[in-house]
Amino acid sequence: MENKFEKKSPLFSILFVCLGNICRSPAAEGIMKQQLELNGLADKVFVDSAGIGNWHVGDLPDARMRVHGNRRGYDFCSRARQIKRADFDRFDLIIVMDEDNYDDVCSLARNEDDRAKVHLMTEYLNRYKGRRTVPDPYYGGDAGFELVLDLLEDGIEGLIKLIKEWA
Ligand code: 4NP
Repeated sequence: MENKFEKKSPLFSILFVCLGNICRSPAAEGIMKQQLELNGLADKVFVDSAGIGNWHVGDLPDARMRVHGNRRGYDFCSRARQIKRADFDRFDLIIVMDEDNYDDVCSLARNEDDRAKVHLMTEYLNRYKGRRTVPDPYYGGDAGFELVLDLLEDGIEGLIKLIKEWA
């Protein structure tokens, strides 16, 4: 069986992280994978997502996130897992959604090299430049899920541009 975490000799590997791994980070994973395919970069970048907590391990993304994603042509179908220290060895870049995620992931870092891999999603924004977080939509309504998708689409456009420069 294919190992979800195995690097398939890509140029680069990216892990998206949020609190529960059922709303923001699986959406980032799904959008990124679609954009990599559309840009002919799918074999160059390995993408995965994980959560800080373990409450939803094994779950599909939140039904609301899937509905909002489907309306924009995405299929968010990953299964939630919890981040672990070994992810610092498997991934070149660990992209978090907010400052709490940032602090939590950095608390797992073993050294400065690990910490240097951790970046906020908002660093890659263009249209929404200036925002600091991709806000947690879990306890909110439809607008929160739409904002997550708007921010992720913007940031992933920025990431794809960077990857094209590296590739
Ligand atoms: P996410 O949203 O971090 O974007 O996946 C959340 C999902 C679940 C919970 C919190 C945030 N929760 O508390 O269960």
